[in-house]
Amino acid sequence: MPAMKVRFGQVNGAAAFGDIASARLTRRGFLGAGLALATAAAPWHTAAATAAGTPAFDFEPIGHGIDERHHVAPGYDARVLMRWGDGVTAAAPPFDPERQSAAAQATQFGYNNDFIGYLALPWGSGNSRHGLLCVNHEYCIEELMFPGLGAYDDDFSGATREIAGIEMAAIGGSIIEVARGSGGGWTIVPASRLARRITAGGTMMRLAGPAAGHARLKTSADASGKQVIGTAANCSGGMTPWGTWLSAEEHFNHCFGSDIADDAEAEIDPALVNHPERRNYRRLGIPGRSYAWSRFARRWNIDLEANEANRFGWIVEIDPLDPKSIPVKRTALGRFNHEGASSAVNGDGRVIVYSADDYYFEYFYRFVSARAIDPASRAANSDLLDDGTLAAARFDADGGLVWLPLVFGDGPLVPDNGFHSQADIAIETRRAADLLGATPMDRPEGVAIDAKQGRLFLALTKNKRRGADRLDAVHRRAHDRWGQIVELTAPGGDHAARRFTWDILVACGDPADPAVAARWHPDSAPDGWFACPDNLAVDGAGRLWVATDQGGGWAKSSGSADGLWALHTEAPRRGLAAMFFRAPVGAEVAGPCFTPDGESLFLNVQHPAKDGARDYAGFGRKSRFEDAATRWPDFDPALPPRPSIVAITRQGGGRIG
Ligand code: FEO
Ligand code: CA
Ligand code: CA
Ligand code: CA
Repeated sequence: MPAMKVRFGQVNGAAAFGDIASARLTRRGFLGAGLALATAAAPWHTAAATAAGTPAFDFEPIGHGIDERHHVAPGYDARVLMRWGDGVTAAAPPFDPERQSAAAQATQFGYNNDFIGYLALPWGSGNSRHGLLCVNHEYCIEELMFPGLGAYDDDFSGATREIAGIEMAAIGGSIIEVARGSGGGWTIVPASRLARRITAGGTMMRLAGPAAGHARLKTSADASGKQVIGTAANCSGGMTPWGTWLSAEEHFNHCFGSDIADDAEAEIDPALVNHPERRNYRRLGIPGRSYAWSRFARRWNIDLEANEANRFGWIVEIDPLDPKSIPVKRTALGRFNHEGASSAVNGDGRVIVYSADDYYFEYFYRFVSARAIDPASRAANSDLLDDGTLAAARFDADGGLVWLPLVFGDGPLVPDNGFHSQADIAIETRRAADLLGATPMDRPEGVAIDAKQGRLFLALTKNKRRGADRLDAVHRRAHDRWGQIVELTAPGGDHAARRFTWDILVACGDPADPAVAARWHPDSAPDGWFACPDNLAVDGAGRLWVATDQGGGWAKSSGSADGLWALHTEAPRRGLAAMFFRAPVGAEVAGPCFTPDGESLFLNVQHPAKDGARDYAGFGRKSRFEDAATRWPDFDPALPPRPSIVAITRQGGGRIG
């Protein structure tokens, strides 16, 4: 989540959660059920059921710490593969941050890369030495991207049309073609036919599903309500079993502005008092006003275009194998601060997509497609995500989880409550989930599906806003600054089932401090713990990998830089963690993404020098372009710190970890 100015914030409609506290502790015994689940890593194949434990990790952990560089476990190479400003398309000019332009940025790798997905070439081959990387670009940091420009203050002094254009071009996504050479390292395939930039300002997209064409999606530029320029706030995502890329529009509310709000000083956003989308926008923190785009392009101004913000906040599906394809916003998956989208094929062939809403007290969602996947044809699955059932999760105190379907006409989802069709439910997903009694969570983020065990893991990153009066069975710590990982089990491996079970895998933070109330394996090393889990991945051996994002609070949550951790999920080692990679100061780690053979690992290092630079001993101030806590990865005094992809391989070859 971007550390941005949020003037009015978001307003939860959820009532305080009922008292299901203190009900249960560790509960095991759901493993080994008969499972049938395919993953994006193994298209069309159904994973065999197994109750066997996962192999141990076999690397020497690196310790907590923080400095200007990245670190990886001994015996591994971690090489920078792609940096902000490096050329993506053949037309890209050399990166010159002193003379950056929107046109150049639209051909170069964007800023703050978050999601990373690998698509083997040729498609379906499982090739681990040649593929496409599909990468999201989430948000901009003015004071690190532009010389002479500090962070925007409330009046956006310093903002120009060109800067707004560069920012819109720096957000969205990149598709790059990569290959592993005989020496073992990864390189970019130059002049790739498939290389592509997708941006907030220039890529035409289509809206599909129940909200497409609805009056609430129509604007002065689009009378159809089915076409929109751009995607924004692309945080995490996922790859589908049919080889498309799902990009999640997360904190899109930050992109929107309002002159009325700019001119006012008030507790309640005055821009919404007479706005037709008042209730909807207030729930989502619109206008978030973290960019000055609304000054230069009317569609980002909610006073002038009442509905443009309803055209963001979706999951976007992109076909990386067709560089001319039009990305599609899939409204059936709901509209909220989508952190990501993790998909799998259920045993009955239907496609499951899990997506978390990363905000304080928001919900966890599941989509189940109406139709089964067609394994014979990619094209036959091109509208699979337009028809299905979206549901929100209710976590019960007895260890059960109930999926609550968000279906028009069911229960409270009726005209009396302002829902006149499935389109209204898609547009105001949060409010529909409020009425059904979904469980408000501590900023749910990453999801990883463990195909071999019929389960998934969900990262709850932290929630400093949850008071002692709102604790429940899942959320047992008030003002939690460390987060936790929850394990969800689908009965018999059926991910379309109405009821799951859940358990806490780890409660993060320092196990040596009783006040933290952390939960790890009792044999954890003094450094064998982390805080603020964000992105998750399960590797080919069924082991969990956790990327952390402590934000500006790292000094208080762990005292260490963010990193990538390996975490055991099976007895007898369940809850043992080891740090594999550590980011430079101010950065979070995102991704992670393995090749099918498990021998290469791609990570995104996002916003180096940014988060908590004031707490970095020896620096102690906010970073700027000219004066940054680190100049990773170039360490060139003429270059600012640059968000980058890192490719990790084992020296001499072999599986990671
Ligand atoms: Fe963009 Fe929730 O992280
Ligand atoms: Ca995060
Ligand atoms: Ca993040
Ligand atoms: Ca995240």
